[in-house]
Amino acid sequence: MLSEKIRTLPESATLRASERAKELAAKGVKVLRFDIGEPGFDTPAHIVEAAYEAMRKGLTHYGSSRGLRELREAICQKFEEEYGADLDPDDNVIIAPGTKYAIYAILEAILNPGDEVLLLSPCWVSYEGITLLAGGKARFISSNRNFRPDVEALKEGMSKRVKAIIINSPNNPTGVIFDEREVKAIAEVAHDEGALLISDEIYEKIIFEGKHVCALRFMSPEEGCVVVNGFSKAFAMTGWRLGYVVGPKELIAGINKIMQQTVSCVPPFIQWAGYVALTSPKSEEAINEMVMELKRRRDILYEGLRSLKGLRLIKPKGAFYFFPEVEKPDISSVDLANYLLERYAIMVVPGKPFGGYDKHIRISYGAVGDVEIKEFLERLRKALEEIEGKSAS
Ligand SMILES: Cc1ncc(COP(=O)(O)O)c(C=O)c1O
Repeated sequence: MLSEKIRTLPESATLRASERAKELAAKGVKVLRFDIGEPGFDTPAHIVEAAYEAMRKGLTHYGSSRGLRELREAICQKFEEEYGADLDPDDNVIIAPGTKYAIYAILEAILNPGDEVLLLSPCWVSYEGITLLAGGKARFISSNRNFRPDVEALKEGMSKRVKAIIINSPNNPTGVIFDEREVKAIAEVAHDEGALLISDEIYEKIIFEGKHVCALRFMSPEEGCVVVNGFSKAFAMTGWRLGYVVGPKELIAGINKIMQQTVSCVPPFIQWAGYVALTSPKSEEAINEMVMELKRRRDILYEGLRSLKGLRLIKPKGAFYFFPEVEKPDISSVDLANYLLERYAIMVVPGKPFGGYDKHIRISYGAVGDVEIKEFLERLRKALEEIEGKSAS
């Protein structure tokens, strides 16, 4: 029944793994969930209230396929204040049901069959699947051993078939933040080669050290810079499905057609909540509190993971993930993640779907407490010792 495209489309590696963890939990196994890619905080109360208020006021009907004008204006204002970008709310911004859908709509709007998208890896698992779904081919450009982007490799990877480059900083899964020099160099490659630069900036507010560099500082929308972002991470709004695209007029008009022919619009009361999230002074306080708590967890985990033998680790500076290399055991990341789940009831994501990192695992600390962290470190220590013992014998 299924088309060739959908039959061969991989399931989301993270969502599939999560199903297995739920199965085990239903059998009474206490699974420690270090796989979940979301901040386990409540959406701040003033944002929830704004949605109720908007529903009561009647924002419950179809709205503009481009999104509420107030929200688009607030997004332009944010970019102007934070990055000095001059954007037009009608031409340069469109609201989407989540950043994931926003990326899909961009690729659907630009790719012809056989066109390529370059992904700076390690990178978020979904870029590859979304590219395939939109009819393109994904090609990974590996970063260096410390997960810094390899601009020379990117240049070599360019060809006439490359329609877009996707970057993500702060990065999922590494927690690395690209610096000004790196973002500028990548923007220059995209510009010189006539490819779109799609910069996924969804972790922009979750930073412990350093600062976020917005790609728009080095390339304007009309030159082919596209920024995607959303409310899931900064405002703990994963279930609300709210994101947006900032980009050139022609692309935004193309995405608008996709919106018109698919979802029609993002629910207006949800967009209103997004508007309040962006404009209320209460939001900054909520974000600061969340980031402080995430940093605290990062520090505890960093010390704990560093003390384990057999892990090569980089201290993440943003987002809420570790992406250590498991140095010794001769075991694939998928087998390792399965083993950790089935034998030790700890759930992490294998590195392979993040661009072929088959010696790595992704550990997320977005939704875990201190007791779980302690227990996790203990179970992981035992597991690594056991694997090491097996491979030695
Ligand atoms: C890098 C990156 N981009 C986008 C998303 C998805 O965001 P949204 O919930 O807005 O679709 C995620 C979620 O894990 C992510 O890690």
